[in-house]
Amino acid sequence: MSEIQVIDKKFRPYITAAEINHRIQAMGVQISGEYAGKRPIFIAILNGSFMFAADLFKYISIEAEICFIKLASYKGTKSTGNVITSIGLDEPLKDRHVIILEDIVDTGNTLHKFLPQLHNQQPASLKIAALLQKPEALEHPIDVQYLGFSVPNKFLLGYGLDYDGLGRNLAEIYQLVDEA
Ligand code: IMP
Ligand code: MG
Repeated sequence: MSEIQVIDKKFRPYITAAEINHRIQAMGVQISGEYAGKRPIFIAILNGSFMFAADLFKYISIEAEICFIKLASYKGTKSTGNVITSIGLDEPLKDRHVIILEDIVDTGNTLHKFLPQLHNQQPASLKIAALLQKPEALEHPIDVQYLGFSVPNKFLLGYGLDYDGLGRNLAEIYQLVDEA
């Protein structure tokens, strides 16, 4: 693996496909152990988490469901600021064991706004599984119970993560090269 260029930026290999796979397998085994008999429902947040969700779900060895949602942000009233709505969440979550699947938790803004809407539905439990988290960027106290990799506050690309729409198809995760 070597440096790649996407649009105007250079990226260097950061996490290999084998490392990603290894870590996700461990997460799948752990989650399967903790949710046996509970028939959890995974909610994957598109677009970024599609690859992580597909690979993790293959390592879930217990009865489980998965659904995919999109979060749309729109300007609310002055007092509410940006509001987030979910598209595609048709399953009732009352008394269900819910696990959110995110590609990366960066500032935590997205989940901070979305989690209360899920809590309103009174799930039996609600946890977060994220492939990546940037602790230095966190602006809201988001508790990630299942984490793949803790990473520095640098822009990442690949394995579902995009730069201006491109790069989601890369099997490895790349890190932005600082410009000199
Ligand atoms: P947050 O609301 O700041 O936590 O950001 C969440 C979303 O921003 C993630 O689900 C990603 O889609 C996107 N994001 C955050 N950091 C990166 C990155 O380094 N590369 C690509 N997308 C990112
Ligand atoms: Mg995302």
